[in-house]
Amino acid sequence: MSDFVTVAKVGEIAEGTGTAFAVNGRMVAVFNDGGTFFAIDDFCPHMGASLAGGYLEEGIVTCPWHAWRFCVQDGKWCDNPKVKVDNFEVRVHENEIQVRVPPRVLPPAPDAQAYPVP
Ligand code: FES
Repeated sequence: MSDFVTVAKVGEIAEGTGTAFAVNGRMVAVFNDGGTFFAIDDFCPHMGASLAGGYLEEGIVTCPWHAWRFCVQDGKWCDNPKVKVDNFEVRVHENEIQVRVPPRVLPPAPDAQAYPVP
């Protein structure tokens, strides 16, 4: 069984644009960059704007709120590549754009014994 999820048909995401989709409990921005599709986390790590609504040019999306720029191929922040948003696998299968988004792994809950109620 494949864990790729169909988000749109080819042609539904115009070239040079992105669209956000809810996949596996996460918002994912899928971009059409010159006919090639890429997927990254939709939430800008600065203040949470939707990156899908950003300006896309030459593989770089510019956040619509404060212009942070991210590579849509690997999610790296252009001004500091040590910082990145998650990127996801994308494929086109029988004219459908599909993404593979693993469930988010949350940190373990704090130990209740470490915070005793007075
Ligand atoms: S919310 Fe994206 S740059 Fe500020």
